Amino acid sequence: MSDKRRRIAVLGSTGSIGTQTLDVVRRHSDKLEVVALACGTRGAELVAQAREFGVRWLALGDERLASDAIADELRAAAQGGSVGFGPQAVADLVKLPDVDVVVNALVGEAGMRASYETLAAGKVLALANKESLVVGGDLIMPLAAKVDAQRRADGVAPDHGPAGALMPIDSEHGAIYQCLIGESAREVSRLWVTASGGPFRGRTREQLQGVTAADALKHPTWNMGAKITIDSSTLMNKGLGVIEAHHLFAMPYDKISVVVQPQSAIHSMVEFSDGSVKAHLGTTDMRIPIQYALSYPERWDAPVEPLDFTKLGSLEFAAPDTDTFRCLALARHAGKTGGTLPCVMNAANEIAVAAFLGGRIGYLDIAACVEAAMDAHERDRVQQVESLDQLEALDRWARRTADAWVEGAAR
Ligand SMILES: NC(=O)c1ccc[n+]([C@@H]2O[C@H](COP(=O)([O-])OP(=O)(O)OC[C@H]3O[C@@H](n4cnc5c(N)ncnc54)[C@H](OP(=O)(O)O)[C@@H]3O)[C@@H](O)[C@H]2O)c1
Repeated sequence: MSDKRRRIAVLGSTGSIGTQTLDVVRRHSDKLEVVALACGTRGAELVAQAREFGVRWLALGDERLASDAIADELRAAAQGGSVGFGPQAVADLVKLPDVDVVVNALVGEAGMRASYETLAAGKVLALANKESLVVGGDLIMPLAAKVDAQRRADGVAPDHGPAGALMPIDSEHGAIYQCLIGESAREVSRLWVTASGGPFRGRTREQLQGVTAADALKHPTWNMGAKITIDSSTLMNKGLGVIEAHHLFAMPYDKISVVVQPQSAIHSMVEFSDGSVKAHLGTTDMRIPIQYALSYPERWDAPVEPLDFTKLGSLEFAAPDTDTFRCLALARHAGKTGGTLPCVMNAANEIAVAAFLGGRIGYLDIAACVEAAMDAHERDRVQQVESLDQLEALDRWARRTADAWVEGAAR
């Protein structure tokens, strides 16, 4: 009997989404097979994963590790396959003929080229790395449309619903994706993207002045990597999510609203022209949206406790406080302006979050740093997005600009 398992590459396999993806594979090893793995620096964990799943194609983003002892261990674990080092080696994994689906769980702009190359190679992209779409959505979405058309022509797309070339892993976007199945785009009047509000919900700017990285890393409902946890606390994660929704669902920004839903039970909602609203609910466990991105159009048993409505209690809703949490307003501005401004915003945010985590700037400095870089770019001139090379050059410029801002603030 032929092996019909979906062959997946997991980029960012040692992180929060990456390890949960591997959990889903353990549970459904009759349907999924891992054929390639990549991470940034945690080589020992990659060796263990390669051995457990019998993976022969491996890459480490940090090229300095090519001359480290871990390189030999990785080669031994790959059993005659290949081990690459550096960003190109990570992105090259998506082109392997053995790979059907790429789970992009890299963090930050570092994931953009892999997203692009995945769809350019005609593969399915299961996307956690929202920064890809924030920065390169104008280039990536036309590729996704091409792969969708090819999937329909090849008869591998489902009879109903989207063709499945780009499957969102973010819980909000996975929720909207599911609410839209069977609906006509013309009849959608609004997307409601839910936000937990993060650990500092209800605080004033004065109260946020002295918060530390340890405070900000305590997320109330989700257990995630450090960068997205800080982004959740500043509401930048929601801003990135709004831009991601704009690209994924071709929705104008004035029809995408954010609502704070502190229990995180409602993962997002879609409102229709007759006033009906569809909501997607579920346990706060990322393995559910990860699995759906891999099982679509089917649903498989999930390795999680189902939601118990009798224990849920009340569901609260509130408008986000964008005066205090300015990153959401900055992201909306970047999205509406479009072009290269989201690229600059994203790069400055990555630098500012890393500086905050490193204790070099204060919490409120994150938004100030992002705004300074955006202002500088708007003064220079926001450009139309034309190529990955253009975006990567601008990303480097924005990082230098934000670094200089951090340097000045840290003095
Ligand atoms: N965590 C969640 O629940 C969640 C939910 C929705 C969306 N997302 C999105 O999913 C993405 C990943 O988030 P996460 O929380 O899983 O992050 P994470 O725990 O920090 O993991 C990031 C992964 O990317 C790898 N990596 C980082 N830089 C790299 C580079 N330059 N080259 C190759 N690999 C690199 C890391 O490897 P090393 O650790 O070995 O360096 C790690 O495996 C983000 O875009 C986030 O916004 C996450």
